[in-house]
Amino acid sequence: MLRRLHHEQPSSFAFTPANLDWAQGQISKFPVGRQASAIIPLLFRAQEQEGWLSRPAIEYVADMLDMPYIRALEVATFYFMFQLAPVGSVAHIQICGTTSCMICGAEDLMKVCKDKIAAHPFEISADGKFSWEEVECLGACTNAPMAQIGKDYYEDLTEESLAKLIDDMAAGATPKAGSQTGRFSSEPASGLTSCTDTKGDKEAYNGSVNLAVTIGDSIKRIDGTEVPFSAPWQSSGQFPAIGIMGANRPKSAVQQAAAAKTAAPAAAPAAAAAAAPVVGAKPAVMDAARDGKADDLKMIKGVGPKLEALLNSMGFFHFDQVAAWTEAELAWVDDNLEGFKGRASRDEWVGQAKLLAGGGETEFSARAKKDGIYEA
Ligand code: FES
Repeated sequence: MLRRLHHEQPSSFAFTPANLDWAQGQISKFPVGRQASAIIPLLFRAQEQEGWLSRPAIEYVADMLDMPYIRALEVATFYFMFQLAPVGSVAHIQICGTTSCMICGAEDLMKVCKDKIAAHPFEISADGKFSWEEVECLGACTNAPMAQIGKDYYEDLTEESLAKLIDDMAAGATPKAGSQTGRFSSEPASGLTSCTDTKGDKEAYNGSVNLAVTIGDSIKRIDGTEVPFSAPWQSSGQFPAIGIMGANRPKSAVQQAAAAKTAAPAAAPAAAAAAAPVVGAKPAVMDAARDGKADDLKMIKGVGPKLEALLNSMGFFHFDQVAAWTEAELAWVDDNLEGFKGRASRDEWVGQAKLLAGGGETEFSARAKKDGIYEA
C-alpha cells in the first residue's frame, strides 16, 4: 500500500510543554549520539497529541533528534501505526481482516463501519467522530473477529456488539476492552480448563488487564492532564542532561513558526530549557601540544585523520588528556564532535588512551603501527 502524506497540512506543529518534557525524558534514555533511537515514541506522542501525523510534526521530531527529514519521513511512512491523514476525533477503528477474523466475520464488522461511519476506509464520519480501516492480523486470532480501537483490543465482536461500541463511544463512554462475549482472555469459549483458582476475580490475577481497567483510557487522547514523564536517572546526576538535539540547526519556515508557537508565554519554561542545552562539562584544553609534539591520536581506534584534526582544533593533543576525561567531560566531548557525535564513548577512547598514555599498546594501535591502518 502506498503511504503518502496528506494533501492538506497544518502550517506548524509543536509539542505541548508537558509533551516536550516527556519527549526529553524519552531522549535521555539513549546514549549521547544515539538519540535518533527515540524517533518512534516521539512520533507516536505527536500522533497522540494531534490524532494524526502531519508533515510539520514529523519535521519537528526530526529537528529534535537532529535527523535529516527524510529519515523521519521513512519511519513515519513505513509503519502503519502512524496515521498520515486526519482520523475521527473520538476513535479510529482498525478492523482486523486477516484469516481468523475474516473467517469469523470481519466482513460483517466492516459493513457496520461502512454503515455507521463512512463508506470507505480513512473517510471521516459526517459528525467527525469516527474513521475506520482494515488492518492485518493484530495477534488476537483466538478471539476473532476483533478490532483495535485506541489503545485497546475489542474482541469476540459481532455486528451488534461493534455497533453498540460505536454508539457508546459516540456518547462519551469508554466501553470495557477485551472480549465482548464475557471471555476473560483466550480460554476456551466453554470455560476455563486450567488456572481455575482465581476465586472469581480474574482481573486481579492479570496485571495488564488490571491496569487497563483501572486506567480506562482506551480512546482518551493527550489532553495535558497526564503526569509528565520523568526518568529516574534524570534527577540522579549520574547522566548528563540532554537538551533538544539539533537546537542550533537552521530551521525551516515551518519549524520557525512551530518554534514561535512553542515560545508562547505558556511554554516559556520548556522553551527556555530548549534554548541552551548543556551537555556534560568541558575538559581542560591546551593551546598547543607540549614541546610542539602531539601524540598520534590516530592510534586510538575510531580516530582517523579528520577526527584527529578536529580533536587538535578543540585543544586535545595527548593521550593523557583523553585518558583523564571524566564521565561528564566525555559527554561534553561526545556532544561537541561535530559530524562525529557520540564517537568518543562508542569507541571507548578513554580506556584506549589510558593504555597508550601509560606506554602500552592496544590491539588496534599495534596493528595500525604494523600495517599503517587508520580509521577514516
Ligand atoms: S487474524 Fe485477526 S487478530 Fe489475527
